Amino acid sequence: MKTIINLLKCPVCNSNISENLKCEQCSYTISKKKNVFLYKQFLDKQMLREDNLNKEIIKNSKKFRKEIINKKGIFSVKKIIKRIKKDKKINKNSVVLELGGANGWLSEIVSKETSNVYNTDISFCFLKYGKIPSFLIPMNKIDKIFKKESFDIVWVNAALHHCENLDEVFKAVKYVLKKKGIFIISNELIVGKIIKNPDVKKANEAGAQDYPYQLSHYVNTSKKYLKTSIFLPDDLDYFIKNPQVIQTGYKRIIFRLIKKVGFFRLKDTFLFKKIYLAFGELFGAPVLIICEND
Ligand SMILES: C[S@@+](CC[C@H](N)C(=O)[O-])C[C@H]1O[C@@H](n2cnc3c(N)ncnc32)[C@H](O)[C@@H]1O
Ligand SMILES: [Zn+2]
Repeated sequence: MKTIINLLKCPVCNSNISENLKCEQCSYTISKKKNVFLYKQFLDKQMLREDNLNKEIIKNSKKFRKEIINKKGIFSVKKIIKRIKKDKKINKNSVVLELGGANGWLSEIVSKETSNVYNTDISFCFLKYGKIPSFLIPMNKIDKIFKKESFDIVWVNAALHHCENLDEVFKAVKYVLKKKGIFIISNELIVGKIIKNPDVKKANEAGAQDYPYQLSHYVNTSKKYLKTSIFLPDDLDYFIKNPQVIQTGYKRIIFRLIKKVGFFRLKDTFLFKKIYLAFGELFGAPVLIICEND
């Protein structure tokens, strides 16, 4: 509890928050339900409602969470942790914030590296299943509740595309990141210039609010605020070896082409990256973006 309190500020007057979750200056109080911290001005009626999510989605999410934690994470997340460990960007004292982390499976995996991990989301239905302390808050508002330069790592996995204004998210992330801290954007939904992702249409018809951007929009916006590096997705090896896991037709086409190029052992070369990114822009293939606050 101690560490977390030190990271918090009052969203009304910016003063410190005391152990009883009250502002030291004004009368503002943060409430708590299960593991979730709640802020009245950031609650909208959807966030707390039990029925705002289809029962089926919740059931699947619980099942997925259990499976994934048992497997100690999906392939790409394990590889990203390995990479940031190698780059000495994470250690047992690192303070980590996840954005749009839903039931917190990723935060839980990261918590094996450091105990200072916190999750955020706008859905209480998801957050309440998590074991990690969480905040019910939209990701573009994190700068209102956390103090400046609080985190070594901010991580968003497959959730950035839900935000209508990327600039706001990056501004807020930059504010809460420590100097030399990193912002990891993984498994992001990306839309192609010529081929739209059919999964997005399906998801939106089922009630999701998915508004993916083009690759260049993610990259250009992140470059406005942070020092940005692009990596090919760590899933790529996996897709190349198991193309049958890719279900939709257009992705099959991309990965078949990539597989051909990959055969020539060009995978880590500048040329291969260029080809992949060009495909990514046209067809919407994913990348891993790691930004540093310098
Ligand atoms: C596709 S899910 C990904 C969940 C999780 N990151 C994962 O990888 O399994 C997107 C999540 O983003 C959350 N979300 C949507 N808009 C958000 C916003 N503005 N701020 C924070 N979270 C948001 C949703 O509630 C949902 O849990
Ligand atoms: Zn206050």
